[in-house]
Amino acid sequence: MIVGRFYETPNMASATDALQTSILSLSSDMASARSIVLIGFMGTGKSLVGKILERQTGFRRFDTDEIISQKLKMPIEAIFSAHGEESFRELETETLRSLSIEEPAIIVTGGGTVLRSENVDLLRQMGTVVWLDADEATLRARIHRLSDRPLLRTANPEASLSELLEARKPRYNSAADLRVDTAKNNPEQIAELILKNIRDLPVGE
Ligand code: S3P
Repeated sequence: MIVGRFYETPNMASATDALQTSILSLSSDMASARSIVLIGFMGTGKSLVGKILERQTGFRRFDTDEIISQKLKMPIEAIFSAHGEESFRELETETLRSLSIEEPAIIVTGGGTVLRSENVDLLRQMGTVVWLDADEATLRARIHRLSDRPLLRTANPEASLSELLEARKPRYNSAADLRVDTAKNNPEQIAELILKNIRDLPVGE
């Protein structure tokens, strides 16, 4: 799917109808609906897609970076500088442990959440885990927008990105029920793909 073409097609009305259909049937399946957990590397659009999914499903959204930042009353970057990465990772795990999700929800994670196996176990218990993926070239092109990410504040951010991505890919891959390519789709389309594909997954997988 090519980004942009979706909106230029004369079949826009039917595409919109299809989207409505999948959202409506999702609502009617609400009793059996599962939470949607977004994982993936920095810059893959987890936060924005999470907000779109929140709007489309009416589910409550939990964003672990937002929760940590609100709790400590400082941006993630400042938490890394003041307390270090290990403390941040501990906060991430504590946040996941303390989430009380009684109804289906949208859970948005940070790019490094999958590094701890305990986190992955918690996420998999919460709902369907969706990996927002992008190829390295796309992520590299977005890197200027990632300057607030502490782990890319190095002498060579592109090399850091490359190393982190290679190290993490297997973690995302083994944690995920569903993988969505964010390089070829815009955030609205990504949310639509998630809603459409999630319904076809066997329950409990
Ligand atoms: C991190 C990604 C960030 C944030 C923190 C650490 C990582 O979240 O949790 O800077 O280790 O990849 P985003 O993936 O939303 O950028």
